Amino acid sequence: MKFLLVTDLDNTLVGDDEATQVLNQRLQSKRSQICWVYATGRSYASTCELIAQKQLLAPDYLIAGVGSEIYQDGTLDLDWAEYLSQSWDKIAIASLAQQFSKLKPQSPKEQNPWKISYILEPTAENSSTVQALQQKLTESGLLAQIIFSSNSYVDLLPQTSNKGNALTYLQKRLQIPSEATLVCGDSGNDISMFEQDVRGVIVANALSELLEWHRECGTENHYLAGSACAWGIMEGMGYFWEF
Ligand code: GLC
Ligand code: MG
Repeated sequence: MKFLLVTDLDNTLVGDDEATQVLNQRLQSKRSQICWVYATGRSYASTCELIAQKQLLAPDYLIAGVGSEIYQDGTLDLDWAEYLSQSWDKIAIASLAQQFSKLKPQSPKEQNPWKISYILEPTAENSSTVQALQQKLTESGLLAQIIFSSNSYVDLLPQTSNKGNALTYLQKRLQIPSEATLVCGDSGNDISMFEQDVRGVIVANALSELLEWHRECGTENHYLAGSACAWGIMEGMGYFWEF
């Protein structure tokens, strides 16, 4: 195994059905060379539904719930779970967040032992609510990180979690070097992936939160694709890997 492809699902791998199928074929033809991983905000169950609905290839690993869970062949990685549990007081963090009436809990299906998720009505003041929540967390000494995306999703995770930390855990385990690791995404919950020692492709339909991050922090390791969704992934694979 030489290459590691880690891609977000919604509006990255999925979003243009034709592009998804063309990429599927390319991946299958390079099966012995590429290990592929899906990294999504969705729960495990919801990811399985999307895989069936959009005829996605079975991934080698699945990073679900914004990095709060890692699965291989349907089995939860218990080492990762234990690692996250070490610095995470879910009950205390949820009760602190409850003080913010603007934060509406997402459905129980989207919650898991290492992820507490809320929705904020998309308004211009949302980032100040998120800042206030961050301040409260800091004051209380509770260890958690906030992942804010699409101007409405708020995920609270252990500080050791997120998509980026999860992919680096897999990259180290598989011993794949940074130049052979490519991450792909379109939104705020993908930023942590671009912050790792990897190559990254931002698809053309990316949200402003990720484009802003790219303007401020992007380097030559980050490629802004001219095409959307899975076409953009293929563009990035050509740019960094020449295939
Ligand atoms: C997905 C998840 C949701 C999460 C969002 C952003 O939509 O279902 O729980 O808040 O991604 O990470
Ligand atoms: Mg996405």
